[in-house]
Amino acid sequence: MSSHYEVRGRTAVITLDYPPINGLGATLRTDLLAALDRALADNDAQSIVLTGTARAFSGGADVKEFGTAKAAQEPRLPVLIAALEDATKPVVAAIAGVCMGGGLELALGAHYRVAKADAQIALPEVKLGLLPGAGGTQRLPRAIGLEAALNMIVSGATVPAAKLKGTALFDEVTEGDPVAAAVAFAERVVAEKLPLKRLRDLKVKDPQAEAFLQFARNTVGAMAGPYPAPLKCLEMVALSISKPIDEALRIERETFMGLMNTPESRALRHVFAAERAAGKIAGLPEGAPLREIRKVGVIGAGTMGGGITMNFLNAGIPVVLLETKQEALDKGLGIIRKNYENSAKKGKLTAEQVEQRMALITPTLDYAPFADVDLVVEAVFEHMDVKEQVFRKLDEVCKPGAILASNTSYLNIDKIASFTKRPADVLGLHFFSPANVMRLLEVVRGAKTAPDVLATSMALAKKIKKIAVVSGVCDGFIGNRMIARYGAAAQGLINAGALPQQVDGALQKFGLAMGPFRMGDLAGLDIGWATRKRKAAEAGVEMKPIVADKLCEAGRFGQKTGAGWYRYEAAKRDPIPDPVTEQLITEYRAANGITPRAVSDEEVVQRCIFALVNEGARILEEGIAARASDIDLVYLNGYGFPAHRGGPMLYADTVGLPNVVRALKRFAAAPGADPSWQPAPLLLKLAEEGKTFS
Ligand code: NAI
Repeated sequence: MSSHYEVRGRTAVITLDYPPINGLGATLRTDLLAALDRALADNDAQSIVLTGTARAFSGGADVKEFGTAKAAQEPRLPVLIAALEDATKPVVAAIAGVCMGGGLELALGAHYRVAKADAQIALPEVKLGLLPGAGGTQRLPRAIGLEAALNMIVSGATVPAAKLKGTALFDEVTEGDPVAAAVAFAERVVAEKLPLKRLRDLKVKDPQAEAFLQFARNTVGAMAGPYPAPLKCLEMVALSISKPIDEALRIERETFMGLMNTPESRALRHVFAAERAAGKIAGLPEGAPLREIRKVGVIGAGTMGGGITMNFLNAGIPVVLLETKQEALDKGLGIIRKNYENSAKKGKLTAEQVEQRMALITPTLDYAPFADVDLVVEAVFEHMDVKEQVFRKLDEVCKPGAILASNTSYLNIDKIASFTKRPADVLGLHFFSPANVMRLLEVVRGAKTAPDVLATSMALAKKIKKIAVVSGVCDGFIGNRMIARYGAAAQGLINAGALPQQVDGALQKFGLAMGPFRMGDLAGLDIGWATRKRKAAEAGVEMKPIVADKLCEAGRFGQKTGAGWYRYEAAKRDPIPDPVTEQLITEYRAANGITPRAVSDEEVVQRCIFALVNEGARILEEGIAARASDIDLVYLNGYGFPAHRGGPMLYADTVGLPNVVRALKRFAAAPGADPSWQPAPLLLKLAEEGKTFS
C-alpha cells in the first residue's frame, strides 16, 4: 500500500507513504481517494488528518508519468483535490519535509493546514516549462495574496513554511510534530464546530493588482527568454482576480496541457530526467560500498588545478596541492585566494570562510604528503611523458586503495593507467574550465577501472555539486571529440563562403551562448595552433595551414592579443568584425581554388549542430556514452548548448532523424566533402526504424 490509515481518538489519520517523495502517480492517487472515502464512511472518525512522511508531504506529480496514459488515469489530481475540498468532515493537512507542485496543490484542497516550520513549500512547475495545473495558480493567491503567489509560481522558488506563517496558507506553524498538532487542531475544529474552510471561497483582495500585474508582465516578459511558461503562469495567476474560480481552473488545466506539448517543456523535462539517469551505470549495483574520500591531492596549480582544488575546499575536503616550482605554487595559491576574495566582495563568503578554505590547502613541492591522500587529480601539462612521470611517482608514494585520476582532455586513460601497477584505481576526472564554476564532470572509465572506483567518483562528483557523466576512453572523450567535428564544420563554412560573424550570429540566434569563433577568441587560438603543429610533427607531415593558423602566424591569438577572428578595443570584450580576417579568408580561398558561395543561416545551424549529432551517434554506437541523454548533459553543462533545446541529441529527435539523415547525406555528397559527413550507422538505423535517440 502507498498509504496507511489509522484512527487516533476520533480523528482518521491518512499517511502517504510512497517512497521516495510521495509522488502523486496513479497508484498513490487511487489509494488516497480510497482512504478518504473510508474516513468519510468511518463512524469512529469525526475529522481527517492527511499527512506524509518526515521527508515529504509530497514532492508532486510523478514526472515519469508525464505523457503516458497513467497521467490521465482517474482519479486525476484535480478530482482528488475537489474530493478533499468537498469532504463533509474537516480535513487538516499536516505538512513536513517537501511539499511541492502537485503536493502543495493537494494540501491547498484541505480545509486547514498545519506545517512544520522548516517544511519546504514550492510550486516549481515553471522549472519544467509548465505551470501548476491542479489549481495552484488559483488557490495559492487566495491563500497568500497575489504578489507573493506570483513570485513563488513564476520563480518556482522554495520557501520555508515559517516564512508563510500568518497567511491563510497555514493555520498553524509548529516546531514540533505536525501530525500531533494537526490532530489536536482537528479535534478543536470538531469541538468548536468551526466551518469547513475552502480556499476557493476566498477572494483575492488587492486594490493594486492591475498596476502590479502590468509591472510583472514587463519584468517576467524580459526575463523569460525563449520560454513561454513564466508568462503563462502570470496570466493564470491574473485570472484569480478576473474570473470565477471554476472557469479559471478550466483555463489553467487547458493551458497546462498546452505547455506540456511545447518543445521548451519537453527539453526541460528531458534534462530533468537525464540528470537522474546519468547516475545509473550498467554493472554498478546501487548501494555498493564506496571508498572514503577524506583528503585529496591535486597535481599542478595552473588553470585547471586551481579550479579543481576549489571544488574540494568548497566541500570542506582538505587538499594537498603540488607544483614543481615555488613560483608556480605561489601563483596558483594567489589565484585561488583572489577568487575567494572576489566572492567575499560579492557577499557570497565571509572573510572568515575565505581563511577557513585557504587553511584546508597544504601546498607542497614534493610528494611526501601524498602518502595519505585518498584521491589524486592530476592536472599537469597535456603531454604523455609528463603524465607518465607523474603517475609512476604516484604509484610509488600513494597508499593502496588511493584513487588516481587524470584531468587530461584527450590522452588515453588506459595508457596512463599502464604507468602504474594499479590500473584498477585509475580513471579520468575531466573538469571543464573554469573548473570551480562549470558543472560538468566527465568521469572517464578505463578498461580496467574498478567498479567501486567509478562509483566513488560519481558520489564524490555529487558531493562537489557536479553533474557527472560517464565516458569511455577515446580521443577527446564525449565533449571534446564532438566539438572537434563542430569546429571543423564551422571552419568548412568559412572556407565555403561565410564569415565568422555570420556563423557566430546564426548559432547564437539558435541559442548558443557564444558562436565558435567568438569562443575561439576567448579561449585563445594559439592552443589549437600548437596542437596542430605538434600533431603534424608527430605524424612527420608538413602542416597545411588553415585560416586559424594564418591568424596565429599574424600574431592574432584572440582576445588576449586584442585580435583573433575579430578585433577588440582596449579592455573590451565586444567582437568587432575585422577586414584583416576577411582578407586572410579570401587569400585562403584563392590559394585553395575555392569560389565562395552564399551560405544561409539555416545551413550554418544544420552543419554545425548535425555534425555534433552525427559524432554523438558514433559515440553511442561505440558505447563511449551509455545513453543519448548523457551526451545532451555534456553539451548543456560543458559547452553552453541552449537548455530550451534539450541538447543536440534531443534537438535531432525534435527535428526528426530522417530529416537529419537527409541533410547529412546532402553534405556528404558535395564535391570534396569530408567523409565524416556520412551518417553514422546508428543514426541511419534509428531513422529507418522511425525511432528517436530518446
Ligand atoms: P596549465 O599550463 O595552466 O597548468 C599546468 C600546471 O602544471 C602548471 O602550473 C605547471 O607548472 C604544472 N606542472 C607541469 N608539470 C608538472 C609536474 N610534473 N608536476 C607538478 N606540476 C606540474 O594547464 P591547464 O590548462 O591547467 O591544463 C592541465 C591539464 O588539464 C591538461 O591535461 C589539460 O589538457 C587539462 N584540461 C585543460 C582544460 C582547459 O580548459 N585549460 C580543460 C580541461 C582539461
